[in-house]
Order: sequence, then C-alpha cells, then structure tokens
Amino acid sequence: MAGRIPPEFIDELLTRTDIVDLVGTRIQLRKAGKDYQARCPFHDEKTPSFTVSQDKQFYHCFGCGAHGTAIGFLMEYDRLDFREAIDELAQRAGLAVPDGVDAGRPGPDHGPLYALHEQVAELYREQLRVHPEARRAVDYLKARGLTGEVAAQYGLGFAPPDGRLLLSRLGESPSGRERLLGCGLIYDEEGRRRDRFRDRIIFPIRDRRGRVIGFGGRLLGEGKPKYLNSPETPIFHKGRELYGLFEAQKAKRKLDAVLVVEGYMDVIALAQFGVTNVVATLGTATTAEHLQLLSRTAPEVVFCFDGDRAGRAAAWKALEVTLPSATGRQSIRFLFLPDGEDPDSLIRAEGADAFRARMTQAQPLSEFLFEQLCDQVDMNSIDGRARFSLLAQPLIQAVPPGIYRDMLAGRMAALAGLPTPAQRPPVRARGRARTAYPTRPSLIAQAIALLLDHPELAGEVEEAPDDWRRSANPGAAILVQLLETIAAHPTISKGALVERWRDREHFAYLQRLSVDPFLRGIPPDGVAAEFIGALTRIGDEVLKEERQRPLTEARAGVSGEEVRAQLEQDAAPTHPRADIDWS
Ligand code: UTP
Ligand code: MN
Repeated sequence: MAGRIPPEFIDELLTRTDIVDLVGTRIQLRKAGKDYQARCPFHDEKTPSFTVSQDKQFYHCFGCGAHGTAIGFLMEYDRLDFREAIDELAQRAGLAVPDGVDAGRPGPDHGPLYALHEQVAELYREQLRVHPEARRAVDYLKARGLTGEVAAQYGLGFAPPDGRLLLSRLGESPSGRERLLGCGLIYDEEGRRRDRFRDRIIFPIRDRRGRVIGFGGRLLGEGKPKYLNSPETPIFHKGRELYGLFEAQKAKRKLDAVLVVEGYMDVIALAQFGVTNVVATLGTATTAEHLQLLSRTAPEVVFCFDGDRAGRAAAWKALEVTLPSATGRQSIRFLFLPDGEDPDSLIRAEGADAFRARMTQAQPLSEFLFEQLCDQVDMNSIDGRARFSLLAQPLIQAVPPGIYRDMLAGRMAALAGLPTPAQRPPVRARGRARTAYPTRPSLIAQAIALLLDHPELAGEVEEAPDDWRRSANPGAAILVQLLETIAAHPTISKGALVERWRDREHFAYLQRLSVDPFLRGIPPDGVAAEFIGALTRIGDEVLKEERQRPLTEARAGVSGEEVRAQLEQDAAPTHPRADIDWS
C-alpha cells in the first residue's frame, strides 16, 4: 500500500517538514544545545530524555528507545497509519499526494460511506430504545449480564425482525439504495430487497479513529448463523481491523497491554468487568496487519485462545504470523483458557482479579513455540532432537536478525543438545576490536549507523562496491544501496533515508541502527576515519568471502533448501494446522 508512494515524494515531504515544528505542535519542546528536548510522550518520566534533532530530522528517546522520523512520530503519537501520516504531512506542507497511489485508502471519496454507517448505527441504537420488540433484545443483553452503560459505550443496537428498517428509512432515493446495497446492508432476495441484519443485536465496528465502518450482528437466542458481519467494503477490511480498539484506547490512552480475543461478546463482557484493554479479531485469523496495528497499540500483546485443539491450532497460526515482526521489543504471550470456557464465561465465573491473574501468567511466545515443537518429537532420542531442530530452524529464521533471534537460536541449541552459538569457536575477523567500545555492533552495522548519521560520508567513497551485493550478509547490500541513494540525493536527511526502507525487509534494522548508542562514543573529528576504516575491513571480508564461497557453503551443513525438502518429505504433520477458518 505504502509502496506506491514515490520515494521522491516522501523526500520532498520530509524536506518541507521540520520535525521540530511538527513535534512542537503536539508537545512542548525546549532547546538544549543543538537539539530540542521534552519529557517523552511515549513513556512516563520525570526528567526529559526525549530529543528531537533538527539537522537529522529525527527524534529519539534515551529512556524508552522510541525513535523515528516526522512520519513515524505522527504514526505513534496520533496513532495514524502510514498513509494517514503522509496525508497529514502533505496537508501541512501544502503538497498534493501524487495521483494513482490510491490503494483503497480511506479518503475523502469515502466520506458518504462513513456518513451512511454512522446513520445506520444511530438507527439501530434508536431501535433498541423504541422498537415494539426491543424488549426482547434488552432482556437478552441483561440476561448476558450487560448494563445499559456498557451497551451505550459500545453503541449496541437492535435490528428489528421485519428487515425493512434501513430500506424504509434510508433507501428512499436511488442513491441511498445503491449505497446500502454496495455496503451489503441490504440485498436482493428473490426479487425482494431486505435488510441484511434482522432480529439481531448489532455491534457497530469502529476503526481506530472511532468511525463506524461495519457491523456485526448476533441472533437473539439460538440459530444459524449465530453471528453475521458486514461484507468487505471499501472502508471495511476484516484483516485490518480490531473490534474494540477504539473503545480500549478511549478508556486508557497509554495501554500497557492489550488482550486479543475472538468474540464481540468477550470484549464487551470483559469491559463490563473493568478489563477494558481488549480487542477482537473479526471472525478471521490474526494477520500481519493486525500485528502492525497491535505493535503501535501497547508494549505487550496477549493472544487469548481456547485451550482445546482448535484453539492451540489457531494460536500456532498466530505465532507463525508474529515471528517476522518478533524482535523482543514487544512482549507477545499466549493465554489458553480451560476447556469449554471463553473469556466471557470465565470472567463471569471467576471475576476480574482472577482473570487478570491469568493474563499475567500467559505463556511467552518462545515457550509456546518450543513446547509445541517438543511435543511433536521424542526429545529423548537423537533423531527426535534432530527433527526438532529441523522444525525449529525455519521458524527461528523467520524472526528478524537481532538479540531475540539469537536467544531463540540459543534455546533451540540447548534443547537439542547442540553447542550454543556462543560456545562455537569464534569466527575471527581481521583487524577486529582495535578500539575499545563496550559492545560494538558488527562492522557493517557500524558503517551503516555512521552513514545514516552522517550521509555526507558517502562523499568519501568513490564508487559503491558492486560485489558487496552478493555478500551473505544482507547488510553489505544495504550499505551499497544507501551509498547509491545518497549519491543520487546528496542532501538527503537521515530521516528521509530511513523512510526509504519503510516497506522493505530491513526497515526495523535500519531504524535500530539510526539510534545506535555506539555512535555516541565517537568524537566528531574521528567519524570519517572510523567510517573508512570500517569500509576497508568490510571490503577485506567480502573479498575473503568471495574466495571461500564454495568452502563455506559446504561447511554450513544443512541449508535452508535441505531443511525445506526434509520437511516436505515427511508425511506426518509438521506442526498443528488450524482446521477452522471463520471468514
Ligand atoms: P463463538 O461461537 O465463540 O461466539 O464465536 P461467542 O463470542 O462465544 O458468542 P456468544 O457468546 O455465543 O454470543 C467467536 C467469534 O467468531 C465469529 C464472531 O466474531 C464471534 O464473536 N463468528 C462466530 C462468526 O463470525 N460467525 C459465526 O457464526 C460464529
Ligand atoms: Mn461466548
């Protein structure tokens, strides 16, 4: 989606935006030397450690590690998605976002759709008060333990049984009917138009900003289908939305944890008991987009599932989706409920405190991962442990490179009885560790961090070394790409450079390096020498790598290809698969 905005436009946007001005409109900044400071808006603190740098067009909190560009700041602070942040900045800068990059984004053209959903939500709410049969609906909600207060908080409504409400109230004009049809709120059945939702409790689904974008409806009493949702529309994408997120954030601006459950009624029942930091997926499995949304919501996510087989299978699916963004920065845990219970029934049975206690005891991602794998093999035999390693390896490879992945790999090795990476003989890099910084990142990471911090260093390099692209270390290719980008745009800022990677694989890596603490140990006049030194040594290593290529490949043992082949050969299920799919 974001990929369609030309990088030149983003450069231009960031050139025309001053991050100091922008942040200054949201929080009070104080000049401190070259930079600006404030108490960090992203965590609680007494003394300011939030710093905004004008020349780097970047912010960074030394307390909590929050950092980013003007775009990132808007995404975090205003809770916008990428596209919304771009729109906001473009508006501030008086720029028009280039045409043809419109990937189904909620834009001004969807205004009538939002308005329609708002009207429809209001109608359903009204019916819950005035319809002759509303008594049944109210009784049902009461029987499920809900107060009027919580019902109002979530905007619950009632769709009357006759199926004529929307048609009669909003379908008089042809354009009104078209719109209702388009959103699936009415449909044709044997030549007759009817409302989609009939004799149901209505749950308006709101987006993060509180706009109604669709509906869920539950039958009063038993029957099929128990729940009915709005279909996908230009403003409603189930894989992208989380029910209850708006309400959760309204209840508490800074959430420290968010619980992800499966049902509408679970969200509402928990809220009724004062557990308000809860969202539900909308009858779909957890998606990468959900995770992205969750990563902006709270530092901790707890996925809640049934304790039965289907629940574990669904949890495994969520785990697989989570791995590519698991850095250890956000805590991800899994909560399994006793058989036959859902959060709604459980909190009624046990009360809020016991439920909260369960949340704090939820299983960390790593534990769930290894437990599931160990359960599938015989860990007492070499063959079983080998199989375990083969199963674990591709999963761990899916985690972004970094401490968390290293730790998972270490745990895998320990469980399998392999020497841990740290126990293997160290690979010696020539000329390593000449200077004494406490913990130095790899050479390439150092060079990238330096280059991001001082794009003008690219001028020290005559030509980006082409053979680096082939290096086994993806950082070498990134370095080349950075050098090329700066050569083409010599005045580009650190912020704009990092933004160019937002849709690419190594964005998180670059973001991390853009605030690398190792930089603080380098005196300003030593920067160029440091950079050239690093490049020279990288050059040596790449050369060595080229010469030894056939050798290292042979020595590496099992390759990714072999692991995959091995897995496919095996007829037995490699890991639990979800056998349910609501959508
Ligand atoms: P459940 O069947 O577990 O429902 O479905 P529930 O939340 O416990 O509902 P109550 O307590 O009987 O009212 C969980 C979620 O799966 C989706 C809905 O989002 C529901 O909240 N679902 C379920 C559907 O979309 N359609 C269905 O027919 C059933
Ligand atoms: Mn239920």
